[in-house]
Amino acid sequence: MTVMSTPTRRRLSEAPFLVAATGGTPSRRPVWFMRQAGRSLPEYRELRAGVGMLASCFDPELVCEITMQPVRRHDVDAAILFSDIVVPLKAAGIDLDIVAGVGPVVAQPVRTADAVRALPRLRAEEVGAVAEGVRLLVRELSETPLIGFAGAPFTLASYLVEGGPSRHHERTKALMLGEPAVWHDLMGVLTDITVEFLRAQLAAGVDAIQLFDSWAGALSLAQYREFVLPHSERVFAEVAAAGVPRIHFGVGTGELLGAMGEAGADIVGVDWRTPLNQAVRRVGPGKGLQGNLDPAVLFAGSEVIEREVRRIAREADEAIALGATGHIFNLGHGVMPDTDPTVITDTVALIHSLPAPL
Ligand code: CP3
Repeated sequence: MTVMSTPTRRRLSEAPFLVAATGGTPSRRPVWFMRQAGRSLPEYRELRAGVGMLASCFDPELVCEITMQPVRRHDVDAAILFSDIVVPLKAAGIDLDIVAGVGPVVAQPVRTADAVRALPRLRAEEVGAVAEGVRLLVRELSETPLIGFAGAPFTLASYLVEGGPSRHHERTKALMLGEPAVWHDLMGVLTDITVEFLRAQLAAGVDAIQLFDSWAGALSLAQYREFVLPHSERVFAEVAAAGVPRIHFGVGTGELLGAMGEAGADIVGVDWRTPLNQAVRRVGPGKGLQGNLDPAVLFAGSEVIEREVRRIAREADEAIALGATGHIFNLGHGVMPDTDPTVITDTVALIHSLPAPL
């Protein structure tokens, strides 16, 4: 048998995103944008014409191509898997759809003990198409890390209980506060599904994961600690063995940043409401920060963008001086569909032109 040296399939040890995520000194300030794939890109709209959102998430070739589009166009430091937080719920057999301009809509909202008992679990083979998409990407991305992701149990619970997007999450909170035993059972099922979904992505080769608890900011700190934290903590604990950086993100979570770090994340995502040099005080030393340009700033013209980007870089450097282990530049939430993609490319170049944090 001929012994061949293992080809360096992916040269990632120097990748700025992974260096920063693991507490090292990156060669440039890493940046990627939540929702960097999607409607802001004409090539995405072209590819998606006539293909449903969920159908595209279960098509490995489309997953790969859509994930690659922003990497090619913007020179971002990480790819994020094209998928959706409701994909594992759909795969497990829950009747739901993603409606354009609305978001996820669930046919039969889950609001009773019986409905919770009837929920399916996820088997790895049910997200085989997602795993195949990851394997295609790992082959294609030679120097760019791939971030896998899942929705956190609370944000998934909100969609299941409300039946769709919700401004106030009133039915979710009613179940949480009024029937805590049913709530914790529901969160337990969603934790199992989330762990299974992340493990499938990790087994297929993702280099980092992000847990999106987008709507956790609707909760008080006390509510978060009692009804959500133990479950998100289990998600992080059950994927820890993979040894990849774990990011935890939510919107409007200024009061929750410490607890979201405690859940077990290596990096805490911060929205634009909390300056990074304040966020570090809430998160405490020993973790990285990600964020936090207001996505609306990308509509305000190049002078405003440059001022805001420089401010965030300065505040990130202060955060590092105060004990944060690194900074990954990002928006404070996802790219808005009307964003001019050339502005995104220019913003990435601007961030790369600034000195990397020490
Ligand atoms: O960041 C990326 O580039 C990866 C892709 C990604 C999508 N959804 C693709 C998508 C990610 C990370 C998500 C996560 C997601 N999905 C979250 C958490 C992140 C966040 O924004 O807080 C949430 C809450 C969802 C649920 C969801 N799915 C919403 C609110 C929407 C938007 C509805 C709309 O049409 O305005 C979706 C659909 C969705 N997910 C789209 C994309 C590109 C748009 C679908 C389309 O192109 O028609």
